Amino acid sequence: MPSHPWDRLFHCCRRRAVCNTGVVPEVTINGHEFFYREQGSGPVALFIHGFPLDSTMWLEQFDALSDVRRCIAPDLHGFGRSAPSVRSVLTMEDHAFDLAKLLEALGLEQVDLVGLSMGGYIALAFAERFPERLRTLALVDTKATEDSTDAKAGRDAAAERVADEGRSGFAADMIGLLVAESASTWTRARLRTMIEATPAESTVAALEGMKQRPDRTETLSNLPVPVAVVVGEHDVLSPIAEADHMAVAAGGVLTVVPDAGHMSPIEDPVAVAAALRTLWSQGSSG
Ligand code: MLT
Repeated sequence: MPSHPWDRLFHCCRRRAVCNTGVVPEVTINGHEFFYREQGSGPVALFIHGFPLDSTMWLEQFDALSDVRRCIAPDLHGFGRSAPSVRSVLTMEDHAFDLAKLLEALGLEQVDLVGLSMGGYIALAFAERFPERLRTLALVDTKATEDSTDAKAGRDAAAERVADEGRSGFAADMIGLLVAESASTWTRARLRTMIEATPAESTVAALEGMKQRPDRTETLSNLPVPVAVVVGEHDVLSPIAEADHMAVAAGGVLTVVPDAGHMSPIEDPVAVAAALRTLWSQGSSG
């Protein structure tokens, strides 16, 4: 038996493959290394992070929900601990195909899919291509519509800025858009660390990919599974009107999280976990 506490930790990770914080050795998907974290047991819930963040944004949801779900959250290609991107565009469809491959690699058929913001765009691309793999869909602080002309121009300007100046200025500005005024210093620092850790190349490629995404309202309207929409009361990036549009299209329940911004799963984990539990109780696995 290992004697030092660290030895014990590593021993446990190697033996059980998964430890509490859940980083699993990577799988190789479409030729690149792909990390994911997991916690809990039961039917699988797959959590897709937003831009330009990583799977650690879901840690509170893992803690709140791992009694009813095997929670899995990948670091998308180009983000977190997964391989940096060498593509000039990271489309929502590219990510959706990576996720399908991940499910295949893990031998998983159906999931409760949860996507925040860019993760929601990817969830909709996944739902369009692989509707049979969904048990339920939760769209959190996201939208089904495409970018307006102004939003597209804003993405080009942001990409140029990150390519020219690096990530720091962009990260500082983005924090102000991600959370409500009431968000703690810790939450802001945590998000900033994630944004600054994302390679500039991935940030630029993802901005272009989001710019190219189509309107997927019709996909949402045609989905044969229960859908829930969650939005922070003060979300300025995906406002309540967009959430309402999705809830109406999907015939799903809309939850507005009081005093939260765009990062509602971190700003009010209890409210978001409650909305997910309610949704999952309507899916085929309960
Ligand atoms: C995100 O949080 O994923 C992004 O803000 C989405 C976007 O820029 O449209």
